[in-house]
Amino acid sequence: MKVAIGSDHAGFDYKEIVKKHLEEKGFEVIDKGTYSKESVDYPIFGEAVAQAVASGEADRGIVICGTGIGISISANKVKGIRAALCTNEYMARMARKHNDANILAFGARVLGIDVALGIVDVFFETEFEGGRHERRVNEIKNIEEKNFCS
Ligand code: RB5
Repeated sequence: MKVAIGSDHAGFDYKEIVKKHLEEKGFEVIDKGTYSKESVDYPIFGEAVAQAVASGEADRGIVICGTGIGISISANKVKGIRAALCTNEYMARMARKHNDANILAFGARVLGIDVALGIVDVFFETEFEGGRHERRVNEIKNIEEKNFCS
């Protein structure tokens, strides 16, 4: 599986750790930046990861900023993206099972790294349940069709 990853300066250290963690597990990781702790604007990296997932360059994505809020909002502005901001493993599991989330977001200033890595593992181990949840995800897609300019 190909995973696009991106962060701002606040998420940089966690991005490096998560990248290594996923590579050790055999994932192909596409690093969309940022590449240092110099202050940058999170929307750039949220959009870059989201475009990689929406275009098929990557199967899924991970976005990290201080809280996870700004970068997840940014990623969700790209059509086809369901970025889920998770603070625990239950949320990560449900984001996959019920929402078919294709991007995981979290905050490096909110979570310890061990909690964050546990969330990452659950996100990639859990499959979408489909069924009634598929209908609801399709309703999200209908909202996109009505509200996105193509
Ligand atoms: C950067 O200071 C911070 O605002 C950013 O990382 C993020 O938390 C925004 O939502």
